[in-house]
Parts: sequence; structure tokens; C-alpha cells
Amino acid sequence: MTPAQAVANGGRENFVPCRRPAAQAVPELAALAFLPFRFFLAGRSAISIAVSNTFRLGILGSGQGSNFVAIADAISAGKIPAEIGIVLSDVAEAGILAHARTRNLPAQFIAPGKFRTKLDEDAERAFVAALSAANVDLIVLAGFMRVLKGDFLRAFEGRIVNIHPSLLPCFPGLHSWKQALDHGVKVAGCTVHFVDAGVDSGAIIGQSAVPVVDDDTPETLHQRIHAAEHELYPRCVAALARRAITVVGRRVIWQP
Ligand code: GRF
Repeated sequence: MTPAQAVANGGRENFVPCRRPAAQAVPELAALAFLPFRFFLAGRSAISIAVSNTFRLGILGSGQGSNFVAIADAISAGKIPAEIGIVLSDVAEAGILAHARTRNLPAQFIAPGKFRTKLDEDAERAFVAALSAANVDLIVLAGFMRVLKGDFLRAFEGRIVNIHPSLLPCFPGLHSWKQALDHGVKVAGCTVHFVDAGVDSGAIIGQSAVPVVDDDTPETLHQRIHAAEHELYPRCVAALARRAITVVGRRVIWQP
């Protein structure tokens, strides 16, 4: 259910992003998920089936992957009740893939195809297939530099989040920290939001502000915003994994 559908539905929607196709296709497996992890069938052969109900993340990035590292560290520290199912990149040599491999996580490069700012149809299909096969509940964009379109958005509607280096709706698009500096704002920051068909336009989940100081350069301001991202993104992903998020129209409410 999208935020818009939630409005049509009476206004409130508990965010329940766990709609895994595998569990839907095999209802008896979905039922088993409520049982203890090890399920013994009657009889002497005692076949055991391990069923994991852990919230699974698919993380997409094109760059160095510092937000991926912050999220992976928060999971390791027990601050996010989730596991990383797959890490994907449209850039073969992206740092995010190297970080994922160092942590023994499944990591894959998928060629983006012929366009510069979006995935072509084959690439889009390959991304959707890899994420579906990894059985992910939430897709976390961490510096993924391509705009997601039609079939991708439809496949994971309401289950894609992004981090943007500005206090949206100010300064969407590229080089937001430079836009902020050029505009002369005194406060900048970052935003975690749901992804919709627009550019940096989905419902806002969380924001973090940082000061702009007089001798800031684009680099120093970007660095300060980046540091704030590493605290904000894990906090938002943790709330989503705990299903402690309710969407009311464009407003995203955090449960205690
Ligand atoms: C971050 O600044 C984020 O806001 C933007 O892309 C950058 C990714 O950085 N969407 P990293 O690859 O996570 O270090």
C-alpha cells in the first residue's frame, strides 16, 4: 500500500514491508515462520527445516559505500534487527561491493545498460530478479546514482528508501551541499525518504540538521552532512525493520 492508498484507506497504515514472494508462493512456509526456527516433522527421520523470519535488506550503491558500512556496523552491533540479503551496484569497481565482500555478504555488479542516469530494461529486470531471489523486505539506496523507474518501483512499491544530502524538499538532485552553500542557508543536513516516481520527492522518514559555518567549502559541508548520514540512516532503517513506522498521507509517524 502506498502512502496515497493509505489516505484512501482511512488515513492510517502500519508500515509492514515484509511481503516476500517466496512466502506467498508457499503458504505453508509462511505459516511455519511463526513456529520456532527448528521445526521437526513427526516420524523417526526428524527432518528439520530452518525458517528465518529476519527482516532482510537489499542495499544498492554506486560509490564508496560509507552509508552501507554504517548500516552493516549497526546490524553487527545489534542496533538494527535485520540482515543484509544482497548488495548490488551498477559500478563494477564501487567501494560498496568491496566492503560487502570483505564482510562475506553476497555482492554483485549488474551492468546498467545504455543510459547514463537510469537503468535500461534488461538491467532493471536483472536488478529486480536479484533482489527478489534474495528475498528482501526493504531496498536501501545508499548512494545509488540511477533514477529508478516503472517496473522496478512497481515490483517493490512502498519498500524502497533513499538518503539524500539535503533537508528536503530543499535542494533535490545533484550536489545538494553545493546548492545549499550557494543559496546561503545557515542550516543544511540530510533526509531519509521513501522512493516514489519523482526525484527525491517521496514521504520523509527522518532528517538530521547540521550547521553551515562561514568558512565552509563544498567539501567541508559535504563531510559534515556525510557524518550526519551515518547516524541518521541506521536509525531510520532500524525503525523500519522494527515495523515502528506508520504512514499517514505524506506524514511518516514513528511509534515509540
Ligand atoms: C551520500 O552523500 C548520500 O546522501 C547520497 O550519496 C552519497 C553516498 O555516499 N545519496 P556513500 O557511498 O554511502 O559514502
